Amino acid sequence: MNSKTEEQNFIQKMREREAYGKRNDKEHNEMQIEFDAVSINEAFARTAVASFLTPLNPTLEEISDVKTAVSEAVTNAVIHGYDEEYFKQYRIRTEDQGEEKQTKPKVYIHCVLDGDVLHVEIWDKGKGIANIELAMEPLYTSKPEQDRSGMGFAFMEAFMDDLEVISEPGYGTTVLMKKKVGVSSWIDEE
Ligand SMILES: Nc1ncnc2c1ncn2[C@@H]1O[C@H](COP(=O)(O)OP(=O)(O)OP(=O)(O)O)[C@@H](O)[C@H]1O
Ligand SMILES: [Mg+2]
Repeated sequence: MNSKTEEQNFIQKMREREAYGKRNDKEHNEMQIEFDAVSINEAFARTAVASFLTPLNPTLEEISDVKTAVSEAVTNAVIHGYDEEYFKQYRIRTEDQGEEKQTKPKVYIHCVLDGDVLHVEIWDKGKGIANIELAMEPLYTSKPEQDRSGMGFAFMEAFMDDLEVISEPGYGTTVLMKKKVGVSSWIDEE
């Protein structure tokens, strides 16, 4: 009796898992990339995310919004995350440890398509942000001498549905963005 129930439970669990797997294949898709933190890779990054988005039938405007937001976040990682200050600290750190680790700084992107929502996570292991609230204020820039306009976060906020910034000085910065994409294709609307 008992073993029968266990068997039934097992079959039930397997069916649920199978159903979840099927649901998952259709509605959940994931990718992750990692590349050297150099500005020439910014074009690659925004194109990669835009290509990943195509199953959702995005409009040209949605593609352009996502590309702009990705561009801004990646540029920030390259320019601010791994700036001179980072390299100075990095040198001190590695000298302290008595070893010269020569790994090139990287930028990481993780994307998830969950139904019709794109989740993008872009992070660096750079110098981090001490005051996130201030950094996110429109027109604030810590590099006015480099003709930065301080509008990167404002653009990310404007072009995406949700923006969250997590950062720890000395450890890096993570930007999390969400956007609902491709409400329906013209075929579905007929
Ligand atoms: N990944 C990061 N690591 C460290 N600091 C960052 C990072 N991203 C942003 N910041 C800080 O936040 C500030 C504001 O960023 P934002 O992108 O809004 O403006 P900006 O990069 O200075 O100028 P713009 O993006 O208009 O060229 C930056 O000046 C920098 O001090
Ligand atoms: Mg910026």
